[in-house]
Amino acid sequence: MMKSTFLHFLNLCAAALAITSDAKTTKQKTLFSVDIMAEQDKVRGHSDAVYGPVPKEDQLLNVEFLEIAPTPIIADRIFFVYLRGYIPESKKKELGLLDEGLVNATLTVSSSVVYPDGKSEDSGPLTVPFKTMFLSDDAHLVIRDTRGAQVDYLPSSGRGDVLLDFQIPTLFLKSGVWTFNVDARLGDESNTCVFAMSLSQWLDGGLKG
Ligand SMILES: *[C@@H]1O[C@H](CO)[C@@H](O)[C@H](O)[C@H]1NC(C)=O
Repeated sequence: MMKSTFLHFLNLCAAALAITSDAKTTKQKTLFSVDIMAEQDKVRGHSDAVYGPVPKEDQLLNVEFLEIAPTPIIADRIFFVYLRGYIPESKKKELGLLDEGLVNATLTVSSSVVYPDGKSEDSGPLTVPFKTMFLSDDAHLVIRDTRGAQVDYLPSSGRGDVLLDFQIPTLFLKSGVWTFNVDARLGDESNTCVFAMSLSQWLDGGLKG
């Protein structure tokens, strides 16, 4: 999975570069292409996250918005993630999803980094249950239902909120363009994708060399 995500990322970079070089000759066309690309891939809301590697239309969750503050994320400072969405009734019916349908859902997180010298590194994937959880004193994942009540799992009916407060320590972090991938799965036989997104941005680390 890691490899394909990374390839997807590289493809995006290649596409972006192609568009940039094209810009010198046909500016008008370029602006149009960028708009289309942004519209297809970008997750609605204030963040730089994009859908993938699973195509948006194959993802179960209909995302209303994703907010990440601050954007871009600053290492060593707490940041917040607020994802709101719902599972359309048609998809729920199609899958025969019950009210407790997301009880076995998982979250897989992985990352990769490209350093200024062009070298790169991958880490993960790490899979955890997709549920409200205490990660540390400075990191919590909380899921809420339509009425705002804290629940253990993402509700299969109505709107759900996923909230995360987190901090990336700079001590062991090397500066570079970091890509974080989050892939939520239903945990059923066909490994249905609930949502899959990635975020690439520069992070300033404290580790030299
Ligand atoms: C969750 O997993 C358990 C154990 O494998 C299974 O018995 C149960 O049916 C699953 N529930 C759902 C909603 O998928």
